[in-house]
This record gives sequence, structure tokens and C-alpha cells, in this order.
Amino acid sequence: MTRGAFSRLGFILAAAGSAVGLGNIWRFPYLAGENGGAAFVIIYIICSFLICYPLMIGEVSIGRSTQTDAYGAYKGLGGKRWGLLGLYGILCGFLILSFYNVVAGWAFGYFVELVFGPLLAQRDKAQFFTDFTSSIGLNFVFSLGFMAATAFIVARGIAGGIEKANKIMMPALFVILLLIIGYALTLPRAMEGVRFYLIPQLSEVKLSTLYAAMGQAFFSLSLGMGGLITYGSYVSKQQSIARSSVLIAATDLSVALLAGLMVFPLVFSQGLSPSEGPPLVFIVLPEVFGAMGPVAGRFVGGAFFLLLCFAALTSTISLLEVPVTYFIDQHKQKRGMIAWVLALVIFVLGLPSMLSFGAVEFFTHLPFYGGKPALAFVTEIFSDVSLPLGGCLMSLFIVTRWKRANFNQEIRQGAPALAGSWLERFINLVLAYVAPPLLGALTVLLILEKIFGISPF
Ligand code: TRP
Repeated sequence: MTRGAFSRLGFILAAAGSAVGLGNIWRFPYLAGENGGAAFVIIYIICSFLICYPLMIGEVSIGRSTQTDAYGAYKGLGGKRWGLLGLYGILCGFLILSFYNVVAGWAFGYFVELVFGPLLAQRDKAQFFTDFTSSIGLNFVFSLGFMAATAFIVARGIAGGIEKANKIMMPALFVILLLIIGYALTLPRAMEGVRFYLIPQLSEVKLSTLYAAMGQAFFSLSLGMGGLITYGSYVSKQQSIARSSVLIAATDLSVALLAGLMVFPLVFSQGLSPSEGPPLVFIVLPEVFGAMGPVAGRFVGGAFFLLLCFAALTSTISLLEVPVTYFIDQHKQKRGMIAWVLALVIFVLGLPSMLSFGAVEFFTHLPFYGGKPALAFVTEIFSDVSLPLGGCLMSLFIVTRWKRANFNQEIRQGAPALAGSWLERFINLVLAYVAPPLLGALTVLLILEKIFGISPF
């Protein structure tokens, strides 16, 4: 039985699709808006290329060198104990998908409610959001629908499913994004939004800005939990990992930057304020679309939520592929079957997150987690804290166990010019001396902040 493989472009699009997601369109703009505008953007670019880029190369090359799932890859190169790191990544992927799919379900639900339902005409968009997210029925239907779409694509395999879906959705995503930006920039006061977004406010830059940027870069590039090991295991030895990774990081960055250029002009055109978190996308923007009137509002709003669904779907398929590849490679399961089974299991695992916005009181105010919703609990533990930790351990694995010479031999495949180049030296330097202490410190800070509520800065 063959495992399947990506074409060169297919891998770049699929990995960029994994990277581009809710994180770019929803989280990045408001983080930038809150953390000093362009100052944050510059720090983010530095984090992406100076630190995350070498880690991305590291992760993809572990996968390509072993041509197997995250667990099998670590075990194959480092023995049983390192295999645990792979299992840890697979577990994180499970839980990340469980909450991510809930928000993706909202995006899907909002698309339907806006284009075909009563959302645009609703006067109180905040009330609509509360009613929508606390409704068991609506959440259930839309997140199950989204998970089914994810399973449907993954079940069709690497080339016929994942690659094909990304080849359609990624270009479509760019076109929709550019169209909305073009429209948004013609609106009155649009430039106020651009200014808010892009003028650096150095006074807003604190040490916490630095690690907000770092954490976001990690999540946005889908690093630290074996997702790229998994996709990397389907990459051909003729492909240059270093070159493809530049394109992946650049795509991710450009979608994030463009998303800000779309969101803020829209928000400022109605004189609204860019608030933090779910309200920005699910309350403030629907207000903007509502004010455009029923026709323009349906077009622009519908396009926006479709864009959000595409971005989310290319990410959920990459998350589901991690355990699917594991069960195919380690337990000889059939792809078509295991994709659906795992999707169902993860959906069930996501029920607490789904019911944590008023549907079930216990999950809405977790007593053992400071009264925060279950979705925040899962996000903070299995994503915010776990991804930098996973990245830290991965870089330690490469330098202490796999060893520099083997790593370099892998990245030189398909990229002979890399041998002895400054880029190769730079990648090695970051993996050995920069990433482990930096990510270790970041993990400690995040544990203090997220779990114990202590912000040292
Ligand atoms: N990067 C995606 C986003 O920005 C989310 C995502 C997909 C992800 N796969 C991941 C995050 C793996 C962490 C790990 O929305």
C-alpha cells in the first residue's frame, strides 16, 4: 500500500493552507491593533523569519527524512523515549482541532445565517452572538457539518483530497480577500483604519508584546505539534525544504497583513471600535455588513464568512491529518475509515468547548479554572502553552539526538546549494542556541500567565 505524496506545489499550498487560518484573519489583526500597530507587525515579521522559519525547516525535515507519522518519526530517529514527544504532539493536535472546529462552526453558521438567514436584519448583533453561541442545536449542526467536510477531504487522501482541496481553496481565498480589501478601501474613513493598523505606536510595545508576537507566529505557522512532520512525510526528496518553507511563511504573513487591511477599514468606515477577541469578527463586522444594506451587506458579508470558512477548513484538514497518518502508519488502519472515526471522536471531545458559551453552566464557568470557559481552558493548555514547549523540545531533539550532521544532510537533499551556505549555518545556529532557551523561557512565562494568572511584565 502506498502512503501517497504531495506534488511540489501541492505541499506548499497544503502547508500554507494549514498555516493560514482563523489565526490570520481573526487573531492577527486585533493583536496588531492592540499591541502598537506596525510595531507589532515588525516584531511579528522578525519572529516569523528569524525564529519560526528555522523551526519549520526542522519540523518538515524530521517528517521527510523518516517518511512516517509524528510518533514514528521521533521514534525512528531517536528511540522509544523520543517517540513520546510525537505522541504528545498528536494529543495536542486532537485537542486543538476539538476547539478550533467549534469556532470554524461559528464561521460556517454565520455564513449561512448572513446569506440566507436573519442575521443582517437583526438589530442587536451582540445579542445574536450570545443567542447563537449558546444554542446547542445551532452549534451542533454547524460544527458537525464542518467536521464532516474536514473528514470528507482527509478521507480522499493526500493528492486526491488534501492537495486538491487546497488547490481550489487557497487561490479562492486570495481572490476573495483582495476583492474585499478593494471594496473596503473605497469606504469613507477607511484610511483611519489603515492608520490605526499601520502607524507604529512604540509606547505600546512591552515585553509582553514580544511574546504575544512569538506565540501568534507559532500558532499561525502551525508549528510545534507535529503537523509539519506529518505533511513533511509526504514531501519528495527532490524538493528544497528551505525554499518551500520561505514561500509557506511568506504566504502566511501576507494573508495576516492583508487581513488587517481588510478588517480595520471596514470597522472604521462605520465609526466602530476594533474590540478584542470574538466580538471583532462575530459582532463588530456583522454590524458593519448590516449598515451596508441588504444587498451589499449580503455580498461583502457573505464573501467574508466564506473566506473565513476556507481559511479554517484548510487548517482543520491539516490538524485531522496528524492522527490519521499516525493510525495509518502505526496501526495499519484504512484512511477512508479512520478519518471519519477520528473526526467523530474529536467532535465529541470538542463538546465541552462547544457548550462553554452559555449552553451548559459547568463548561461556561469551569470551577477549577478560574471560572473561564472550557474553550479557553483547552486553548490555553493545549495550544498557547504546549506549542512553544513542543517547539523547544523539537529543537533540542534535532541538536542533541538526531545531530546536526544528519539534519544538514536531510535539508541538503533537493537543495545542494545549501551545503556550507550562510543560510544553513544560520538555521543551525537558531536551532541549537536560540530556539531552546527562548522557547523554554516563553513556555515558563506562558504557564505563569495562563495557568497561574501571573504576568511578570
Ligand atoms: N495555523 C492555523 C491558524 O492560524 C491553525 C492551525 C492549523 C494550527 N494547524 C495547526 C495551529 C497546528 C497549531 C498547530 O489558524
